[in-house]
Amino acid sequence: MMATASRPHVPVLLDRVVALLADAPDGIYLDGTLGAAGHATAVLAARDDRYGSAHLVGIDRDPTALALAADRLAELPDTVGRDLVEARFDAAPAVLDDLGVDRVAAVLLDLGISSMHVDRAERGFSYRQEGPLDMRMGPDAPRTAADVVNGYDLRDLALVLRRFGEEKFADRIARAIVDRREARPFEVTTDLAEVVRDAIPHAARRTGGHPATKTFQALRIEVNGELTALEAVLPALLDRLAPDGVMAVLAYHSLEDRIVKRAFADAANGCICPPGFPVCACGRVPLVEHVVRRPERPDELEIADNPRASAARLRAVRRAAA
Ligand SMILES: C[S@@+](CC[C@H](N)C(=O)[O-])C[C@H]1O[C@@H](n2cnc3c(N)ncnc32)[C@H](O)[C@@H]1O
Repeated sequence: MMATASRPHVPVLLDRVVALLADAPDGIYLDGTLGAAGHATAVLAARDDRYGSAHLVGIDRDPTALALAADRLAELPDTVGRDLVEARFDAAPAVLDDLGVDRVAAVLLDLGISSMHVDRAERGFSYRQEGPLDMRMGPDAPRTAADVVNGYDLRDLALVLRRFGEEKFADRIARAIVDRREARPFEVTTDLAEVVRDAIPHAARRTGGHPATKTFQALRIEVNGELTALEAVLPALLDRLAPDGVMAVLAYHSLEDRIVKRAFADAANGCICPPGFPVCACGRVPLVEHVVRRPERPDELEIADNPRASAARLRAVRRAAA
């Protein structure tokens, strides 16, 4: 099922996410990446059926997503409470404090951008459609992609492309960007995509997806500080999970997934004694257990319906009982 005007974003691994989060204990459901509320609406409907009521704290840094989400959530019965907040998800603990919420029973982070971002050329995320080089997910982002490509020096630009795009031609692409901007600063997405394509050797252009995919991913991550926010929020939210509470995360590239894997493994591990200690001296006990041990992926049917789901990896943990 492709995104359409009435369904602007198709939620990924929906049935699996609903099964995991509807099964969490009664209490607050926190969606830190509310988007168009596709997951949230389904999870809340299931929790409302199960407990006779449900309550959402929905966060998104993009005010246009929150407006869509509010419309979508209007489908739900009055027994479902909702607080929608424009914020970065790493501010979730402060948002919960402001709302007087101590613990949450279920948490979802469905990372990255939505179809509303990619499909709207004016947001500047798409290398296929001409739009301004913006890429800010929300007004809180301190810089645009144009600021990065026109302002960063050669070394920093190459570093961003290598680190956040895992782009092996980072140096060549950064050089081509700097050469071109000296003549004329970049303004639009398609212009940048063309310079990136021309900077990549012919043979390498024939494999993989569009030659600008990794550069656009890297710029988006830099503009929105995506990985820093993720690293900060995971331990903070694991700490706020109620006993038996469940947290699920959908990641769409290996940099995100590695951060989630490490944070969940740390929390499931408990002991932090140096390797080789004969007995545990730290006494730290596991905070959570894995509910999904190996990351789950969408099946071929889902990917055929919604190709944007293809990179998704779902991980989930459950907080230990009290
Ligand atoms: C993949 S979409 C979520 C789609 C949603 N699950 C649905 O079913 O409609 C990701 C959303 O998270 C938001 N987002 C990404 N990173 C964020 C962050 N650090 N803080 C708050 N919102 C963020 C984006 O603006 C986008 O709306």
